[in-house]
Amino acid sequence: MGYQAHFRVWRGDADSGGLHDYTVEVNEGEVVLDILHRLQATQCPDLAVRWNCKAGKCGSCSAEVNGRPRLTCMTRMSTFTEDETVTVTPMRTFPVIKDLVCDVSYNYVKAREVPAFRPPEGVAPGEYRMQQVDVQRSQEFRKCIECFLCQNVCHVIRDHEENKEAFSGPRYLIRVAELEMHPLDSHEQAGGNRAEEARDEHGLGLCNITKCCTDVCPEHIRITDNALIPLKERVADRRYDPILRFFRRKEG
Ligand code: SF4
Ligand code: F3S
Ligand code: FES
Repeated sequence: MGYQAHFRVWRGDADSGGLHDYTVEVNEGEVVLDILHRLQATQCPDLAVRWNCKAGKCGSCSAEVNGRPRLTCMTRMSTFTEDETVTVTPMRTFPVIKDLVCDVSYNYVKAREVPAFRPPEGVAPGEYRMQQVDVQRSQEFRKCIECFLCQNVCHVIRDHEENKEAFSGPRYLIRVAELEMHPLDSHEQAGGNRAEEARDEHGLGLCNITKCCTDVCPEHIRITDNALIPLKERVADRRYDPILRFFRRKEG
């Protein structure tokens, strides 16, 4: 049975904005994005909403619903009681363009700062061989749909605009972790060091393992346990390895 829901939606642009109240029809099985589309169709045709697949796979429809970062296409209206006000606001960490649409270009800048996978020397594509366990480990990270909900929720940049320069955020630290754990990546042979780059160039040290990123990931990637903590351990291993320290001291 359908009912009339009370929606509160943030409307505005980079200069100003505020919450607007709407009463809108909800039918059985609908998700928050359906209701936003009904609002567009019936009451506010200029409401800006980003979306694409409506199947939880494109990562476009991210917003905050009752304060929690979510994919609106995967948030069922049955999550809320019929008399509950459903408040939809844009992701707070990124600048608003219009209504629920943010400028997420910070993420693309950070993506470009991670050096690409470097294939092993002398091995042609098609001849790459790696253990199934290594395939599975990186496959978890490759499930990322780039919804940026983890980037949005991480307090390191959510509450500190000034950290954006130094911190790449959980999404790009898992990319570094994936490549660091890739047995065929030859970035190190070419003089790089992914773990140290995570610390020095992507701000790994600013992450204090609050795990909020893991809590909101719609792909259930265990960002903190499987990427960030192992990356921190690898940085510590290299830094405090007694043999490496001995040689470093001799070199110094
Ligand atoms: Fe979204 Fe998860 Fe990828 Fe972060 S790691 S961008 S939360 S899918
Ligand atoms: Fe931020 Fe996730 Fe670390 S929320 S502080 S990157 S564990
Ligand atoms: Fe594609 Fe929601 S519309 S993830």
